[in-house]
Amino acid sequence: MTLPIRKTLSELRSRRWFADQGMRGFAHRQRMQQQGVRREDLMERPMVAIINTWSDLSPCHAHLRERAEAVKRGILLAGGCPVELPAMSLGEVMVKPTTMLYRNFLAMEVEELLRSLPCDAAVLLGGCDKTTPGTVMGAISMDIPTIFCPAGPMLNDRYVKDGVSRTVGAGTHTRIFWDEYQAGHVSADEIRHLESRMTRAPGTCNTMGTASTMTAIAEALGLSLPGASSIPAMDSAHTRMATDCGERIVGMVWEDLKPSDLLTRGSFDNAMAVQMALGGSTNAAVHIIAMARRAGIPLTLRDLDAAARRLPVLANLFPSGDRLMEDFYYAGGLPALMQVIAAQLSMAQMTVTGKTIGENIASARVLDPEVIRPLERPVSTAGALAALFGNLAPDGAVIKPSAATERLLCHKGRALVFDNQPEMLAAMADETLDCDENTVLVLRNAGPVGAPGMPEWGNLPIPKKLLKAGVRDMLRLSDARMSGTHYGTCVLHISPESAIGGPLALVHTGDVIELDVAQRKLHLHVSDAELTRRRAAWTAPVQPFQRGYTQLYQRHVTQAHEGCDFDFLQGTQPTPEPVIF
Ligand code: FES
Repeated sequence: MTLPIRKTLSELRSRRWFADQGMRGFAHRQRMQQQGVRREDLMERPMVAIINTWSDLSPCHAHLRERAEAVKRGILLAGGCPVELPAMSLGEVMVKPTTMLYRNFLAMEVEELLRSLPCDAAVLLGGCDKTTPGTVMGAISMDIPTIFCPAGPMLNDRYVKDGVSRTVGAGTHTRIFWDEYQAGHVSADEIRHLESRMTRAPGTCNTMGTASTMTAIAEALGLSLPGASSIPAMDSAHTRMATDCGERIVGMVWEDLKPSDLLTRGSFDNAMAVQMALGGSTNAAVHIIAMARRAGIPLTLRDLDAAARRLPVLANLFPSGDRLMEDFYYAGGLPALMQVIAAQLSMAQMTVTGKTIGENIASARVLDPEVIRPLERPVSTAGALAALFGNLAPDGAVIKPSAATERLLCHKGRALVFDNQPEMLAAMADETLDCDENTVLVLRNAGPVGAPGMPEWGNLPIPKKLLKAGVRDMLRLSDARMSGTHYGTCVLHISPESAIGGPLALVHTGDVIELDVAQRKLHLHVSDAELTRRRAAWTAPVQPFQRGYTQLYQRHVTQAHEGCDFDFLQGTQPTPEPVIF
């Protein structure tokens, strides 16, 4: 199917800048020619922005300068005029306190870059965790033709110990090896070797962490080319995919194919199904709700829970399985996985190709059924996500059962409560800490307002004395998030958060907490009367942020179950085009 042409040259947005016959138009054309752009390219071609989240402090995006050149080549071949616009890079590991604090900043930056400049369309270059939802949220709100070009996962590494060689990658293995190092099972020399090897090439984390989950979700939403999210960053196919993005976006300009033409309840249902079959990151719960709300679609945690109940985990990828993204690519990548769950997908959803999801994946096949499992032989039936409710989380919380310890999914234990991250970290190193493997570790003041920015502190470390005793998992609770590459029985995103007076703020050390994932229940065994008494005595923590972006964030961020977007950025209300004079 070929989409009809819906836009003419005279209707291009960039014409408002360059076709103006007054002094403003003269100045706009003059200044572009100042940097070598030909007059006819401004007057006869659509201007396509390449939003690039490259920076020297974003190692996952180290190759995006080169990929921007490939995108430009595609745009030029198709008759467009490319312009590269740098945007906040948000390298996950380097940005403190957390990139989540700046996801909305990036979303605003992308929206306002596209609005304030003569852009007819956009190719978004991102992939490291928040850069996918951040750029996509901004593009949804701007609603001009857009393709998301994912950075791609990094390559696998090999680790040899005692003559046994195994495949290792970033994220999940970082925590595994660090715990083994703490327990004395990995030497200082080995850990130094791993430091230099485990992330051996540009690209995003190669487990099914947040980066791989979100780029797959973007593809499932129809915002990326088919198969794009699975291609390793250093594969030549990745460069060709980037060129394809550049070529295709020009066609989308003339077809006027915008995010609002692609994003429907059906496309978000597809994205949730893909998230669950992949065993995707719990972080996606926040991002997918935020993206949907930008598109005017009111997704909830209960929608995500329903998707998780429908679909087992089929992708054998860390942290739910034992393979990495390079293996997933060789196994057929996302189109092959979508073929396996085709009965659960809405095949008629339109995509950036101008074709439907069904047309895009028609020829996809699974090439390695150990990596992409058939429905009758899943990696896990425990579910990639469960939404929990109860007196401790009236608005919800999430857990990733497929990456948790089965015996802890129904557990009752005494709470050991920490009010902040430094206090908790110091206690974990204390070998006299009063706890055992049944203790429930609780961290609060780590939510969107409290931390601020809801950092990935929810995978609380295991106390050192228990690590030495062989304990590798405990029930842990927080209003924080957890890295998608991590694993463990961690209840996350407790909402409302403690810093605004959610029930988590009222828990005392020694209280009994009960988790029952099968019942979707999270309960604090304290009477209502006692909770009322504690609430009356509670005072909000003092926030040191009196100015700047962080204060804006704390004032306007919504809670986890609402997507943590800013209240003034949600919805589909358009912002007027800028006045040009
Ligand atoms: Fe960039 Fe994991 S640190 S994707």
